[in-house]
Amino acid sequence: MRVMVTGGAGFIGSHIVDLLITEGHEVIVVDNLSTGNKEFVNNRATFYVANICSPQLEGIFSKEKPEYVIHQAAQVDVAKSIQDPVFDAQTNILGTIRLLECCRKFNVRKIVYASSCAAYGETDDRSIKESSMTEPISYYGISKHTPERYIQLYSQFYKLPFTILRYANVYGPRHTPKGEGGVVAIFLQKALKGEQLTIYGNGEQTRDFVFVKDVAAANLLALGKGNNEIINIGLNQKTSINQLFGVISSLGEIPLGVPVYLPARNGDILYSQLNNTKALQLLGWKPRYDLLSGLKETKQFYETEESFKAGDTDEQK
Ligand SMILES: NC(=O)c1ccc[n+]([C@@H]2O[C@H](COP(=O)([O-])OP(=O)(O)OC[C@H]3O[C@@H](n4cnc5c(N)ncnc54)[C@H](O)[C@@H]3O)[C@@H](O)[C@H]2O)c1
Repeated sequence: MRVMVTGGAGFIGSHIVDLLITEGHEVIVVDNLSTGNKEFVNNRATFYVANICSPQLEGIFSKEKPEYVIHQAAQVDVAKSIQDPVFDAQTNILGTIRLLECCRKFNVRKIVYASSCAAYGETDDRSIKESSMTEPISYYGISKHTPERYIQLYSQFYKLPFTILRYANVYGPRHTPKGEGGVVAIFLQKALKGEQLTIYGNGEQTRDFVFVKDVAAANLLALGKGNNEIINIGLNQKTSINQLFGVISSLGEIPLGVPVYLPARNGDILYSQLNNTKALQLLGWKPRYDLLSGLKETKQFYETEESFKAGDTDEQK
């Protein structure tokens, strides 16, 4: 298959590209490197440094004629979406519409879209199904959810098949502390530098942590299955931030000290746990990593990658 991956120089996108190439697919990456890293881009992919919001995108489609599109490019910072909602909407909403226009014009066979648990907003402390209410509490949540509706209508009007994957909190190698759900990256990197960790709120807020390689696998499965469906990608397990702190301490050799507690921040949801029954049934997806095995692999990455040891670790999400 000829697959275009937008955001293929980013954390999740680069793992998807690696897996596609391992499985023998041809890959075209479109990324403007705003948060991505060109070092992450597999050298067997065709790489365009380009903005999905620019007219240049159409030229790339015309030249490369991708059969499938996996759309990961986005403004991914919740706090930034609140500081600059115009930029957030331009990238996430208008950027996706531009991409859909290209998919329509160049007869793409299917689009797989990276949505987010942020689309649900505040929920009670239970496993969230895809049919649950979507009431985002940040502009980022709105700008990730709105493209879902565009994708559904493009499918209805132009017969463009899709799968929308709503990711839980993704973590793993190559994650930077800046993006959505960066708490694992921030904790590990600060801990390895011997810095004190910060927890916003009382730390009892929960997240469903899913390992990046499992998310990449879900994207590949979605190329051939789960047509016109919205599907959660998570472990269906909740871990509080205090518990995460404990698990990271139990990995050993990292002096964690006592965390500093600061007031909760706007836009941060309280509870998150994604029901994954649809992913198991429709995609045949099964996570291969539990939190402990995923954290061990992530820690190993940060210990060995010099550039990540020096990373900026200001924020915890
Ligand atoms: N990390 C998570 O926990 C998580 C959770 C839910 C959903 N998501 C979604 O997954 C996707 C990937 O996120 P990530 O964590 O890998 O973040 P990331 O910042 O590492 O990746 C996003 C990539 O998109 C690129 N990009 C941004 N704007 C662009 C533009 N206008 N044109 C071209 N490229 C552009 C960036 O340079 C970057 O390489 C995003 O759509 C995000 O909303 C992530």
